[in-house]
Amino acid sequence: MSRVSLFAVEDTAVQVCWADLPVGSVLRAGDATAEVGRPGPGAASLEHLPPDSCLDLTLRLPGRGPRPRSVHRFRTLAPPPGELLCRFATVNDLHVGERSFGLLRTLGEAPGAHDEPYPLRCARAAVDEAVVWGAEAIVAKGDLTWAGLPPEWHDVAALLGSASVPVLAVLGNHDVGKHSVDPATALAAHGIVVRREPSHHDLPGIRVVLADTAVAGKSAGRVQADQRQAIAELAGAAPGAVFVAMHHYPQRLQRAFMYPPGIPGDQAGPLLDALAAANASTFVSCGHSHRHRFHRHGPLVVTEIGATMHYPGTWAGYAVHEGGIRQVVRRVAAPEAIEWTERTRRALLGAWSLWTPGRREHRCFSHTWPTRASLANPDE
Ligand SMILES: [Fe+2]
Ligand SMILES: [Fe+2]
Repeated sequence: MSRVSLFAVEDTAVQVCWADLPVGSVLRAGDATAEVGRPGPGAASLEHLPPDSCLDLTLRLPGRGPRPRSVHRFRTLAPPPGELLCRFATVNDLHVGERSFGLLRTLGEAPGAHDEPYPLRCARAAVDEAVVWGAEAIVAKGDLTWAGLPPEWHDVAALLGSASVPVLAVLGNHDVGKHSVDPATALAAHGIVVRREPSHHDLPGIRVVLADTAVAGKSAGRVQADQRQAIAELAGAAPGAVFVAMHHYPQRLQRAFMYPPGIPGDQAGPLLDALAAANASTFVSCGHSHRHRFHRHGPLVVTEIGATMHYPGTWAGYAVHEGGIRQVVRRVAAPEAIEWTERTRRALLGAWSLWTPGRREHRCFSHTWPTRASLANPDE
């Protein structure tokens, strides 16, 4: 049986991905169908599903009779309370300029095999697909480049600058390496501003706070006391909910027990405490780990989102409602992207494919902003 995964579940849509299915295979959920039109890895979005409903995903293979068989049973999400106010999306770890992947860097492409190298074409498809999904802004959460070199910034600036929606950007460790140059001029030429100090941008129903956690020449992140205070002040002064976008993930412990290291616990804990105190309706999202994870810190939700160009190759969408926010993580579906990311699942002798996706319910979920009553009785 070919691998058919129900990668993303939303309130009215699902994303189905496969490693290989015969051309002519038909996937169906509710009244939505998708037919496989090309060999090899692929993805399809099945839309207009009823929210908060139990459904079957069925597969009918060509030449195997008219009866489809159920391959997944799932429940669509209930949307957060209240009206939908806006949608935006994030991308991170584009690594534009990277040329190979894997422990021994054995996964790569022959020069000239594609019009664009894999990091650029995955990032381009991610941004395009996020906009089609309905994103009204794109937030790029660091490691936009491989080494922060001028040609890499030129490509990143041209790519993000060509998006049809506003792009907000914050840097990652790869962007401030030993040989990196200041990207401000290249990005500003395409209308993108990057700041090292905390900044914000208000979208309908949510304030996006950008927090630069990168340290020149270091893989680990940092949030010093003055940064923490500025980030918390921006969150506290928001007219409503807050989305904090930063590159490094907050470690729960002082030492990192996985690679790459995030923000040490003695800085990360106080940051999350300060955010929770400043504005309990805060959602924190990071990158850097190239994996997908979810955890809570008091009333806060903290997520890690994978890279656009390493398996599974993803971007994240956020639907902001009056009473909460919904996250969805989708694989970059364009054939020229998913053919590459599917190859990278072999990294670390296949362990990469087990480690990075995380659980679907940690990638796709609705979160209701806390109320005074829920904050007073967090266990109820
Ligand atoms: Fe990265
Ligand atoms: Fe990173």
